[in-house]
Amino acid sequence: MWRQANWDEELLFKLSMYGKPTFYFGGNEFAEVVGDVEDLLPKKVVRSKPPQIPNLSEVEVVRHFIRLSQMGYGVDLGPVPLGSCTMKYNPKLLEELAGNEGLRDLHPYQDESTVQGVLEVMYLLQKWLAELVGMDECCLQPPAGASGEFAGALMIKKYHLDRGEVFRDELLVPDNAHGSNPASAAMAGFKVIKIPTSESGEVDIDALRSVLSSRTAGIMLTNPNTLGIFESRIGEIADEVHRAGGLLYYDGANLNGILGVVRPGDMGFDIVHLNIHKTFGAPHGGGGPGAGVICAKGELVDYLPIPTVGFDGVKYFLNYGKKKSIGRVSQFYGNIIPLVKAFLYMLTLGPNVREVAEVAVLNTNYFIKLISGVRGISIPYGKGKFRKHEVVLSFEDLLRDTGVNAEDIAKALIDRGVYAPTIYFPLIVNEAHMVEFTESESRENIEMYAELYRSIVEDAYKDPAKLKKCPENTSVGRLDLGLANHPLTRTPTFKFLSRLGRKSMIR
Ligand SMILES: Cc1ncc(COP(=O)(O)O)c(C=O)c1O
Repeated sequence: MWRQANWDEELLFKLSMYGKPTFYFGGNEFAEVVGDVEDLLPKKVVRSKPPQIPNLSEVEVVRHFIRLSQMGYGVDLGPVPLGSCTMKYNPKLLEELAGNEGLRDLHPYQDESTVQGVLEVMYLLQKWLAELVGMDECCLQPPAGASGEFAGALMIKKYHLDRGEVFRDELLVPDNAHGSNPASAAMAGFKVIKIPTSESGEVDIDALRSVLSSRTAGIMLTNPNTLGIFESRIGEIADEVHRAGGLLYYDGANLNGILGVVRPGDMGFDIVHLNIHKTFGAPHGGGGPGAGVICAKGELVDYLPIPTVGFDGVKYFLNYGKKKSIGRVSQFYGNIIPLVKAFLYMLTLGPNVREVAEVAVLNTNYFIKLISGVRGISIPYGKGKFRKHEVVLSFEDLLRDTGVNAEDIAKALIDRGVYAPTIYFPLIVNEAHMVEFTESESRENIEMYAELYRSIVEDAYKDPAKLKKCPENTSVGRLDLGLANHPLTRTPTFKFLSRLGRKSMIR
């Protein structure tokens, strides 16, 4: 029977009907040409019974996967306004060029003389990125943002140890930071000191001053921060931390909001990581792999991971010569494909790179304007301040008035055919939605999204019970989040329990 993309696509196994005649390309014709397979293969490798795989023709399988693909949602279909994650559209041109077979088939053990082209790309990228963030040198090796952070925290640690300052065991992290910041600091062996955010949405400088001491190893900051607010007192923060003997680490995951406009190096940062898979034309998340390039200035350059790529005036080479290096943080030289995409991205944009940030910031603030004044939605912290790459909304008032929470609103957005933003982050905002349109989205899409928010909230005031049932127009209903997150669901015990009658997590 002809099936349209629908919401109850069966597994291939269910679609298959054993014994049903199917047309196979290469099936009978193959046997005619090569003869009986048993005559060709040793007896012990010939199957005694048919494989337990679905009995379907090629075209049936292709259509199954195409139907599944039509049930999915991605940035090629509509906006993915995930705050902090910068899920922007990545030009297909980069995909095409980076898919070049010369690159794809490279082997990490190839002799340097045979990979001069790609080493040149890496060398130039190191230089361009360093220039863009105001650092002296970059290493392309870390395969993710969190890995760059970990490398940076290790560099801070080794720097202080080399100076005999073993007592510097505290790394300061604001309370709105991405979870990977305190995690990286702790993994590097630091005690994490949380710095509160003031009502202005920026680091509480008095609280910062009160914890600075001879134990301070440094501070990890992202600017603009996860509220989308630029830390306007960053110069002061840098002076205070440096005066106390600490270093400044810049989490570059939010660089999209200031790209080409201001440089972390000029703000006083000593070490920077960049999320190539967010800002520079390579996909983030499931579309990975990523690259968390790490850069440094001054004497900290000697602590970068190895190898970096050098040039002796004639040839490019892998430089293992940094004596104080923290060593490797990943195998080989990093994920080359996203790095090539970043190179191409910068090549395509050239001096216009700042337009990325300008349009992204304009989009955020246009959206804020459209939803300002909608009953039930507020924008906590930094009242009236411009946001950069993202804005964090709160549905606290709506929850109080109607019982509808941030999760319900996200499900209602999905029900209406768009992707929901990041929810419940940062933790300092109750009932949070963190919205980031980036430069990818058109004015029409932003208006459509704002209108969806307005109408969903209106519906919540009229009929909160209906909102609680969302999503109803999707392939699966609301997941039991507790159960889905429970470690048991990943173990044979869970499978055993489900067989005993605990119904699927899906309504
Ligand atoms: C602000 C911030 N810092 C760091 C990271 C970590 O980056 P990654 O996911 O590449 O490890 C993220 C995450 O996506 C982030 O939003």
